[in-house]
Amino acid sequence: MLFDEVVLGRRSIRGYKPEPVPRALIEEIIGLAMRAPSSMNTQPWNFYVITGEPLARIRAGNTERTLSGVPQSREFRTGQAFANQHRDRQVGVAKQLFSAMGIARDDKEMRQDWVLRGFRQFDAPVCVIITYDKVLDGSDDTPFDCGAVATALVNAAWSRGLGTVINSQGIMQSPVVREHAGIADDQVIMKSIALGWPDESFPANAVVSERRSVGEASVFVGFD
Ligand SMILES: Cc1cc2nc3c(=O)[nH]c(=O)nc-3n(C[C@H](O)[C@H](O)[C@H](O)COP(=O)(O)O)c2cc1C
Repeated sequence: MLFDEVVLGRRSIRGYKPEPVPRALIEEIIGLAMRAPSSMNTQPWNFYVITGEPLARIRAGNTERTLSGVPQSREFRTGQAFANQHRDRQVGVAKQLFSAMGIARDDKEMRQDWVLRGFRQFDAPVCVIITYDKVLDGSDDTPFDCGAVATALVNAAWSRGLGTVINSQGIMQSPVVREHAGIADDQVIMKSIALGWPDESFPANAVVSERRSVGEASVFVGFD
């Protein structure tokens, strides 16, 4: 695939076929992703690639804790709730997804079902947890670098016909992930990426999220 086809074609995938993904293919994708730039080439990232029984235990633990009201326990700062234009964009994509799925605004049961789907990693056959070396905690470069490798990973996966969705839902109950994925003590859990073969019949997979124009997002200086 051409670069433009990958970048313009990729979208978050929230419905997967149950077929497994070969380990060699995942290794190839991670290898491509790791060409991402990082601050001083520190490459602070690590990948825990989880499938099968351990992933089932993480799904179950996340669901159980969420339903019983255990508060979130992410391992990084989340800032304040979105407001203004950020909130508008968050609501915008949620509306697109709910509309595609036929979930009505006041349908609490279906909305809850959708949220739990996220905590189950969208039932993807594979989950990639990105962690970083704890010794680098405190540097904003580190999450920046993890974002770079995550973006490269989702595009590399797409170029091989695989779908992904980067998600926070999968790591909101970090002790569950830590326990069942065997995350080392010197690692901080940064983000989760669900990965698998896209289910083309799953309506939300067709959603193309909106973007601001380049003009709205950019300031060009010294060009005139
Ligand atoms: C840091 C980060 C966290 C995200 N967390 C979630 C999540 O918890 N659940 C979810 O459904 N999507 C999640 N997403 C996916 C975004 O909603 C999605 O990337 C955005 O709406 C743009 O859509 P696109 O990926 O289809 O272009 C996350 C994406 C990023 C980059």
